[in-house]
Order: sequence, then C-alpha cells, then structure tokens
Amino acid sequence: MNSKEPNTTSSFPSFPSTRWWSKETVAVVTGANKGIGYAMVKRLSELGVTVILTARDNARGLKAVETLKGLGFDVFFHCLDISDHASILDFASWFKHQFGQLDILVNNAAISYNEIHENSVEHADEVIQTNYYGPKALIEALFPFFSRSMTTTRVLNLSSRLGLLNKLKNPEIKKILLYEEKLSEDLIDDIVKLFIDDVKKGQWKSRGWPENWTEYAVSKLALNAYSKVLANRYQGQGLSVNCFCPGYTQTSMTHGTGNYTADAAAELGVNIVLIPAKDLPTGKFFLRSSRGVYNDAYSKL
Ligand SMILES: NC(=O)c1ccc[n+]([C@@H]2O[C@H](COP(=O)([O-])OP(=O)(O)OC[C@H]3O[C@@H](n4cnc5c(N)ncnc54)[C@H](OP(=O)(O)O)[C@@H]3O)[C@@H](O)[C@H]2O)c1
Repeated sequence: MNSKEPNTTSSFPSFPSTRWWSKETVAVVTGANKGIGYAMVKRLSELGVTVILTARDNARGLKAVETLKGLGFDVFFHCLDISDHASILDFASWFKHQFGQLDILVNNAAISYNEIHENSVEHADEVIQTNYYGPKALIEALFPFFSRSMTTTRVLNLSSRLGLLNKLKNPEIKKILLYEEKLSEDLIDDIVKLFIDDVKKGQWKSRGWPENWTEYAVSKLALNAYSKVLANRYQGQGLSVNCFCPGYTQTSMTHGTGNYTADAAAELGVNIVLIPAKDLPTGKFFLRSSRGVYNDAYSKL
C-alpha cells in the first residue's frame, strides 16, 4: 500500500480541549464488529458518547458487543449491511424510533479483494456497491435524523490514499473531479459506470484508472468526490463531511500487517469527529502517513 504522499503538511486534530459532547450525543459506526470500526466504537464509548455498533452479520456484531460489555463499555447494536438497501431502510426505521437524532456517522464498513502486492478488478461491481453506493445510501437514509440545528452533525468517511486523484492518470476524468463547482452525484455515478464498463470490456488498463488495488481505489475515489459534493452543498448548514485515511493499519483487510494498530487509527478518527464546532472543517481529506499528517490531501492532488 506504499505510494507517493502529497507534499503538504498541516496540523492533525489532537484530543479536543473542550468537551462539547455528552451521553446525549449519538454516534453510529458501520462495519464495527472488528478492525478500525470496532476500535472507534470502543474509543467513542470510553469518552462517554452513546454509540450504536452496527455489523452486517448479527452473530459477529453481538459477539463484539459482548466483548465490549466485558470491558465495561455499554453500546447499542443493530444489524446493518450497507450493500443491501432493505437493510439500510430497516436500520433507518429502527434508528428513528430508538434515537431520532444523529450527531456522528462513521462510514467505516468496506471490502477489498486485494492481497497486499496484488491487484483485483474481478469484483468491481461488488466493491463499488459496498464502498461507494453503501455509504451514500446510508447518508441519504439517515439524513432526516441529522441533528444539524442542535450541533453540527459529523460524517466521517473512512477512505484511502489509494483513491486520491494523483492515482488517476486519465486527464478528462481528473478534470471533472477537480472542477468542484460543477461536480455532482450524477457525474460521479457516470465515472463509476465508465470504470465498470472499462473493466467489462477489458480496457481498464489503458484508460488511466488507478493501478494499485484498482477496484478498491476507484470505490474510494468516488467516495472522496461524493464527500466533497456533500460538504460543498451543506457548507455553513450544520453538516461537516470529511474523509480519513488511517494509514496502513493492522486489520483483516491487510491480513494483520501494517504500521499502526486499529486502536491508534481509531484514536485519530475519533479526534476528527470530536473537533469542537467552531474549529470543525468540512470537505477535508485527513491522511496519516509515515511522513506526517495532512488535512487537505484531496484538493492538493
Ligand atoms: N487497514 C488499512 O490499512 C486501511 C487503510 C486505509 C483505509 N482503510 C479503511 O478503513 C476502514 C476499516 O477497514 P479495516 O481495515 O478495519 O477492515 P476490516 O478489519 O476488514 O473491517 C471491515 C469491516 O467492514 C465490514 N463490512 C464489510 N462489508 C460490509 C457490508 N456490506 N455491510 C456492513 N459491514 C461490512 C466487515 O464485516 P465482516 O466482519 O462481516 O466482514 C468488517 O466489520 C475501511 O473503510 C477501509 O477501507 C483501512
């Protein structure tokens, strides 16, 4: 997962000096039965936020909740498969009746079929459905419950530097993605469809798509662009949407290899979602690498 890093430095959020949140603050974390999502649930719960751990598999989710309970953390649970629209609607309906208002949404769940030094395009449909359309559909379903007037609602999309624009060699597509004023959900969907089409026709290599972890990279590229669109649309209207690449982290996705533990990655992610409203940015791509931390990687590339 090594790649050229952006040549920009900026401060990374440290633990907030003022505690603005309380037990009334509600957070949802997807794909939280293990890995970074699980660690984020643990950290948020430790800090006194009310957390809903979600997982696509009921048994795996409940097992994670039991483990957390054993450690003294009391979290809520509901099943949520972000690749299944019926599951998203079921979750949204449950959430409406149980909580009604949402302050923090961590779109963490994702899949990858890549081995560390291999590349995959065979599962392009499924990976894009889960990693791009999944978080997008969940945001749309939960949007009515975003507590925007009470406190800024925070959406954090777990992303990857593999989906940054410097990985894309196609100048036309790059131009569309960089033209923020004109960028729209329809344009992003068109780009994603073009990629799937190129894969089906066996011509993705010659069309300048990312060369490393290709289908995963395109799914994150689309998620980054969608995050930008949302951030621009709701600028100043109580919604903050940021992306976060935790760096090469020791989880199932990397077969336990990596430079950081899931707990260390989660600590940074939680610091981002807990930034006090007056300092909270939107439309940023927070990135951690071995060379430092950055908060504006998206627009620099
Ligand atoms: N690890 C890294 O080095 C790294 C680097 C950059 C970005 N990230 C990002 O960080 C996030 C967390 O990854 P991780 O490393 O913690 O991976 P992980 O250990 O493989 O965890 C992924 C989680 O997502 C869940 N999931 C997969 N498909 C789902 C679906 N359709 N609906 C709901 N949940 C689903 C998995 O559930 P199951 O247990 O049921 O499969 C699992 O709980 C991802 O967005 C990833 O892209 C990771």
